[in-house]
Amino acid sequence: MRAVDLIRKKRDSGEHSREEIDFLISGYTRGEIPDYQMSAWLMATWLRGLSAAEIAGLTEAMLHSGEVISFPELPGKKVDKHSTGGVGDKTSLILAPIVAAGGLNVPMISGRGLGHTGGTLDKLEAIPGFNTALSLAEFRRVLRECGMGLIGQTAEIAPADKKIYALRDVTSTVENIGLICASIMSKKLAEGIDALVLDVKTGSGAFMQKEEDAVRLAELMVETARRMGKKAVALITDMDQPLGRFAGHSHEVMESIEVLRGRGAADLRELSIELSARMFYLGERTKSVGEGRVLAEKLLASGEALAKFKQGIALQGGDARVVDDYNVLPQAQHHKEVRGTSNGFLAATNCMEFGNALARLGGGREKKEDKIDPAVGLEFHKRIGDRVTAGETLVTIYYNSDSKLAEAAELIANSFVLCEQQSRPKKLVRRLIGA
Ligand code: URA
Repeated sequence: MRAVDLIRKKRDSGEHSREEIDFLISGYTRGEIPDYQMSAWLMATWLRGLSAAEIAGLTEAMLHSGEVISFPELPGKKVDKHSTGGVGDKTSLILAPIVAAGGLNVPMISGRGLGHTGGTLDKLEAIPGFNTALSLAEFRRVLRECGMGLIGQTAEIAPADKKIYALRDVTSTVENIGLICASIMSKKLAEGIDALVLDVKTGSGAFMQKEEDAVRLAELMVETARRMGKKAVALITDMDQPLGRFAGHSHEVMESIEVLRGRGAADLRELSIELSARMFYLGERTKSVGEGRVLAEKLLASGEALAKFKQGIALQGGDARVVDDYNVLPQAQHHKEVRGTSNGFLAATNCMEFGNALARLGGGREKKEDKIDPAVGLEFHKRIGDRVTAGETLVTIYYNSDSKLAEAAELIANSFVLCEQQSRPKKLVRRLIGA
């Protein structure tokens, strides 16, 4: 078998056998198939799509590229959440400590920034010293001690996704239902969890901009989880505007701590509580989702979730003083306001462009080797439905280098749609799949 023939087959709309998929995934994971051939195959796949059988085969091949862990030593259920990604989506940093403080185990394998979206690993690494590359033995120790661990794909766990994810980020091959399903589910099924909550974003800042595509992806992932014997539910949630008030790595850590302190943006708090409640329910910690919400609220109010975050940071080598002193985080040197130029009500945002603007400022990668600048960020001052007057600040940009500042500011300014009539924002949780 040769990679070049499989690229041609997909380019010409052919359907791969399971052996062909195994050849591609194991060959690429071992370094025998180079990046340029995998990039070509990914683009052919993005354009031509994958059949249901190919998606199932790809997910399994990626899952078995590494170890499938189990945690017989951990008492209690293991649950996790995964989001398909958005702008300002930082709920993992909030719900992992809530759910661990509530007595369940959260062995979370996350990703880095992908396309215009930010990644949990990059956000956590804004905390000085935080190690997201724990060995399997260290991951187990951290989980045993505090019930939560947040790491990336490793050479041992989901190594195929580790390499393919980084390649998709810089080859414009992210927004494909089959590739997303295989990427997410190969990581999540490797974690040894009992149950999974999926947050599938839809809207102008999501990979699945149309709600019907988000529903298709959600159904596919829920079905994949169940086929593998895991409980799963998916929430279709709004990404027509950023989640919370900030995007950017240091800023998102701060905003997450604010929510853990019982403060913070209302939408971010609401979604974090909802997802935590679903995890409590699926993990059989509570008898209903309603009880799960009450428990999540209680753990926030008592400070137990915040204390759990602090413990988790310290166990993963991070500077836990961050919880009390945001100056520990990298800070941007400059800021600039983007102001409205007319009067009206905010009707919509082109939310993806906020993520693209942040990447231009150094908050995302253009090439695999690029380093993220964790200090850069965006602060959003208006939400859909708000009145805007000319001259008012829409966004504050926090930046270090002004080389692409003008480009980023223009992208941001052009991403606000005003109208004369006030429109109602859409519901944060739009639908539930697999309940
Ligand atoms: N999150 C992932 O882990 N993979 C994707 O492809 C998209 C979002």
